[in-house]
Amino acid sequence: MAAIPTTPLYMRRIGFDPDPGLAVLREEDGVRRVDSLLGGPAWLVTRIADVRQVLGDPVRFGNSRHHLVPGAPAMTEEELAAMLPGNLLGFDPPEHTRLRRLLMPEFTVRRMRRIEPRIHEIVNDHLDAIEREGPPAELVADFALPIPALVICELLGVPFEDRDDFQSRYTRFFDVSLSMAERYAVQAEAKAYLAELVARARVEPGDDLLGMLVRDESAGLDDRELVGIADLLLLAGHETTANMLGLGVLALLRHPDQLRLLRDEADRVDAAVEELLRWLTVVHTGVPRVTTAEVELGGHTLGPGELVVCSLPAANRDPRLVRDPDGLDITRDAGGHVAFGHGVHHCLGAPLARMEMRIAFPALLRRFPTLRAVEREPEYRAQQVVYGLASLPVTW
Ligand code: HEM
Repeated sequence: MAAIPTTPLYMRRIGFDPDPGLAVLREEDGVRRVDSLLGGPAWLVTRIADVRQVLGDPVRFGNSRHHLVPGAPAMTEEELAAMLPGNLLGFDPPEHTRLRRLLMPEFTVRRMRRIEPRIHEIVNDHLDAIEREGPPAELVADFALPIPALVICELLGVPFEDRDDFQSRYTRFFDVSLSMAERYAVQAEAKAYLAELVARARVEPGDDLLGMLVRDESAGLDDRELVGIADLLLLAGHETTANMLGLGVLALLRHPDQLRLLRDEADRVDAAVEELLRWLTVVHTGVPRVTTAEVELGGHTLGPGELVVCSLPAANRDPRLVRDPDGLDITRDAGGHVAFGHGVHHCLGAPLARMEMRIAFPALLRRFPTLRAVEREPEYRAQQVVYGLASLPVTW
């Protein structure tokens, strides 16, 4: 089948819904030959079952060979060596398993409960500040972004006062309108900054994740791995949750019946968070894997070394997952969604992200029962790997 130019379909249109073209592809043929964002060919996977097959099979759909697929920017051994260490997403088992096992204990639901009171405190401090300032407020800058950023900074041991610098770096890193070379250069800057923090932690390990990893000699992590881990956690730890918080608030404001249910009935919050994760699916540009052997997928035979891109928004709006998938319904069980991915790379920070959202959404809605958006159409982050809002002016 000829490749069709579907690059724009990786991207979200303005608003909450994925590009309608994705639904058409999903119904016609869940696995389609397309042009990837890198310029070479790829298989776009849009059905929930096929996405689970790909992400659930790290042996046939690997993560460590992205630099070898057609269209990928040529990287020198040095560039690869600088980029990979510590980055869980760049490895397959067993290398991946080693890193994941080291970090897992710090991200269990039980461990998250220990920091729950601190998250409440951080959320309340930000709500107090918004209330003190009075309306209007800028919900992304004053609430959605700083809360997860502060939480991950404290958890990791990164000075919060550096956040303007690292946030602007990560926004550039996630900007798909920039070239890969420009994005790698930004990543090198981020790593240089984190290398200083790791050096400091080696001398004086704090009571945080970096300090813990430095102290644990049996972990055997070298400095480049520590920098890579810190980079991934800092990036993944705040960009994603921040965008879920901002976009989630707007989604609720646009669905006042759902908002009322969540505000007035506290025990609905777990289901509401899962449904918002499913419906919004902020990791929207496609999760890539590379085939390691010939493999059958959705009725197609894929050769080895082919790029496969899973569209999480398409899979999460698959009618085979939930009934009426395009509707937002916080009373349903959306638990089978793939907004956090699936399989061995399933989001390490999911328990933390869930806890932040379960605390932040209801606290905001109860503090400001008359909250409303100031503008009809706020600014969306359409060019970003993680979808969301650039700003959300609100009043009450
Ligand atoms: C992996 C989404 C929050 C750390 C992933 C993946 C997705 C995802 C889709 C899988 C990518 C793949 O398979 O290629 C999200 C969403 C979040 C969120 C939607 C918020 C709502 C967080 C937080 C942290 C975090 C708060 C850290 C504290 C990670 C890490 C991985 C990952 C380290 C790689 C895991 C591995 O390779 O084993 N996330 N994430 N994420 N996420 Fe998250």
